Amino acid sequence: MPNFRGTRFTNAHETLIWASKSEKSKYTFNYQSLKCLNDDLQMRSNWELPICNGSERLKKNGKKIHSTQKPEALLHRILLATSNKDDLILDPFLGSGTTATVAKKLGRNYYGIEKEKTYFKAAEIRLKKTTPIEDDYLDTLQNNRSKPRIPFGSLVELGIIKPGTTIFDNKKKISAKIMADGSIKHAKTEGSIHKVAATILGAESCNGWTYWHCKLGSSFVPIDNLRQKFLVK
Ligand SMILES: C[S@@+](CC[C@H](N)C(=O)[O-])C[C@H]1O[C@@H](n2cnc3c(N)ncnc32)[C@H](O)[C@@H]1O
Repeated sequence: MPNFRGTRFTNAHETLIWASKSEKSKYTFNYQSLKCLNDDLQMRSNWELPICNGSERLKKNGKKIHSTQKPEALLHRILLATSNKDDLILDPFLGSGTTATVAKKLGRNYYGIEKEKTYFKAAEIRLKKTTPIEDDYLDTLQNNRSKPRIPFGSLVELGIIKPGTTIFDNKKKISAKIMADGSIKHAKTEGSIHKVAATILGAESCNGWTYWHCKLGSSFVPIDNLRQKFLVK
């Protein structure tokens, strides 16, 4: 915000409104992705981002094209948090096109409205020069809540993996046998896939789904992949 007198607190923040149409509206919030962006800590509600400068700043004859061009990092965070690839993003005050540019990079569809022709043209040129990130790299981390909780024993019960099957660590140096009750046995250690893996590693805990591997068709994959079969059933 402008601070014409400049003799009070320096304006250093802007407020974002995050809202849905009604209480019952569906909305996206990629909590896990934001946590990952923040070194595995829950994302805070105050964000420190550099203002838009350098090669990102649109200029003509050395003069800024738009006085309030937003930094792409800001839109990157907003769009990652609140949308998924192929979603549709609308910016009714497009300006220099930052929202649409980041939307295009992130594989989102976009609409923009801008009343000033100069800004609209600049946004159009900017968008033409923007290349989307490859589709393979656009998946967002699933939120825990949306991940089904499937006990390993259920895969044994359903016959997706049979008692007596051998599972291995990723280097095939350590092996364990699957028992009829969904426990596993490695030498003298027995217990859940997580407990046995943790004992082998001398760790307090270990995610057995990713530690243990098995043959699936012609591939050698983490047993986590077997859960997909469970979901298909
Ligand atoms: C704060 S700027 C947006 C800056 C943009 N986020 C960017 O990064 O460049 C707001 C823009 O909305 C445009 N605008 C204001 N009222 C409008 C209206 N009624 N219809 C369309 N555009 C409008 C202004 O011309 C201005 O470019």
